[in-house]
Amino acid sequence: MAAITPRERGEPVELTINGRKQQVDVPADMPLLWVLRDVIGLTGTKFGCGVALCGACTVHLDGIPSRSCVTPVSAAAGRAITTIEGIGATAAGKKIQQAWLDLEVVQCGYCQSGQIMSASALLAKNANPSDADIDTGMSGNICRCGTYTRIRAAIKQAAGAPAIATKGA
Ligand code: FES
Ligand code: FES
Repeated sequence: MAAITPRERGEPVELTINGRKQQVDVPADMPLLWVLRDVIGLTGTKFGCGVALCGACTVHLDGIPSRSCVTPVSAAAGRAITTIEGIGATAAGKKIQQAWLDLEVVQCGYCQSGQIMSASALLAKNANPSDADIDTGMSGNICRCGTYTRIRAAIKQAAGAPAIATKGA
């Protein structure tokens, strides 16, 4: 028999988001993305496809990039949730965000929260990623504006490689 969830017991779900504990009174199966955006008001994480195909909704759960559109909030309870609003407080996230600014990666911007979250997780795990590592680590994040060349260059710069002129690429 399945375990009874806090919600089924009438208890709020306790989340730790960007280091801060918060309780939310929502159904256990509500997607984490909905909770972040509509309940808590952290709208930096974006909705794209809703079915784990585009990466726009990427957050970290215990440092692992995760698609919040298909993650029930109950699965995030007890784990460290990091969103785009908090990633700059991590060493890898800070380097990635600076490289994104330096190389002007962003075009329309819609996919970029997810891109930065995936790139930060990649850099935290692999301090010197190869092109193949970047392609693998970023393969789940779609950019309709086609900023892939600059994303790759920015990850390399954040990893300490010499800056590459990519503005406008
Ligand atoms: S909105 Fe979650 S992967 Fe597209
Ligand atoms: S910057 Fe426009 S979708 Fe990626």
